[in-house]
Amino acid sequence: MSSYDVIIIGSGPGGYVCAIRCAQLGLKTAVVEGRETLGGTCLNIGCIPSKALLHASHQLHEAEHNFAKMGLMGKAPSVDWKQMLAYKDDVIGQNTKGIEFLFKKNKIDWLKGWGAIPTPGKVQVGDTTYETKNIIIATGSTPATLPGIEIDEKIVVTSEGALSLPKIPKKLVVIGAGVIGLELGSVYARLGAEVQVIEFLDHITPGMDAEVSKNFQRILAKQGLGFTLGAAVQGVETAKGKATVTYKLRKDDSTHTVDADTVLVATGRKPYVDGLGLAALGVSMTDRGQIATDSHYATNIKGIYAIGDAITGPMLAHKAEDEGMAVAEVLAGRHGHVNYGVIPGVIYTHPEVSSVGATEETLKAEGRTYKVGKFSFMGNGRAKANFAGDGFVKILADKETDRILGAHIIGPMAGDLIHEICVAMEFGASAQDLAMTCHAHPTYSEAVREAALACGDGPIHS
Ligand code: NAI
Repeated sequence: MSSYDVIIIGSGPGGYVCAIRCAQLGLKTAVVEGRETLGGTCLNIGCIPSKALLHASHQLHEAEHNFAKMGLMGKAPSVDWKQMLAYKDDVIGQNTKGIEFLFKKNKIDWLKGWGAIPTPGKVQVGDTTYETKNIIIATGSTPATLPGIEIDEKIVVTSEGALSLPKIPKKLVVIGAGVIGLELGSVYARLGAEVQVIEFLDHITPGMDAEVSKNFQRILAKQGLGFTLGAAVQGVETAKGKATVTYKLRKDDSTHTVDADTVLVATGRKPYVDGLGLAALGVSMTDRGQIATDSHYATNIKGIYAIGDAITGPMLAHKAEDEGMAVAEVLAGRHGHVNYGVIPGVIYTHPEVSSVGATEETLKAEGRTYKVGKFSFMGNGRAKANFAGDGFVKILADKETDRILGAHIIGPMAGDLIHEICVAMEFGASAQDLAMTCHAHPTYSEAVREAALACGDGPIHS
């Protein structure tokens, strides 16, 4: 029987990063993965393929809307959907093979198949049982659907089916105005579909700073996405290759229907822990179906740990990665740690939206006194040159100490710009620290500096 220091179940960003760090720290490591390729949901049917389609469809949008303004004349290209999907699949292949290479380089064994834990200290994969000192569950999450909706991944799809539709739908109804609904809704709107997003709440993107959320909705509406807010979807019927979505408006309880070629159900995700044998082992779960862990990612069963979407916290690949590195360090006798106060969130639409730390709403709820420094991309030369003036940077700082408490960006490269503020927050920086740091001109980053200046004596370019 082969034996290991660590067996990790699941090779998504949490699992594979954890495995590499375990191996680097001298632990004999194996990863169980039942998919044909490594990388989990993120690389195979999530973050990476959706970014490929967002990139391709954005290029089309640029050609249709901005090329002629710059003197690039001629008809915008037509869409070869098959080729776009082939490009997306190629991107997936490059990334998943990259992980395979890293496993070989770090001498990590890939145990192919679906894993179960018959007893602590053992992992079963198919007919083979492996011994291990530690087990880390990194099995991720799966779409959470609604009662009354049957997913067939053809007409009624989750994010997985939406990344491989046989053709671009004429009418797409998206249920849920969260991250998945807005990213994939944007893709199909740019490719010519009529997109209607139905959302239960009275605003899009739950948890986002309300001012940013409102602006974001306005920009997306300008790009052609339709929004029906305050509407609870009751069910979806399919017949003759089409779907009918029924929803109830919360304000007056009136019932409505809308027809669609494709319905994307994007109403959240739930931990995926099926088939591991957790109930028989007596592993404690939270009331939301997540694996309960302590601050070292240990479950209540000795030698079994869990990270990523399967435990509490935001369902984000980079949160899982950080937990993967932290638990590897714990197992190697070090002090693994994740700062949950500084985990950025990004929506990869155009413009992008990013955030870190507190929102105005959370600060108000906590009774904190704070100041707001804001700067519009309209005042940023680089953004103007690139037709990217929509949006702003907003920094929230403590009124007394000037310490940065949170930041929210809607605008070009917002997903990259946010990290300057993350680093500043990790170092406990003040808004003035950012404002006094020289920023190259002309860059989008200058808008971050200007927002920091706005927390003090004021920005220069507004
Ligand atoms: P979400 O939780 O972000 O949004 C789901 C939305 O569906 C909510 O606004 C909710 O109010 C709405 N909803 C629920 N029931 C409804 C009903 N009956 N009728 C109408 N609306 C209803 O979930 P989403 O977008 O599915 O994403 C799942 C997870 O994946 C999230 O945790 C997200 O952070 C993560 N993710 C992150 C990405 C990124 O970081 N860029 C990309 C894709 C996913």
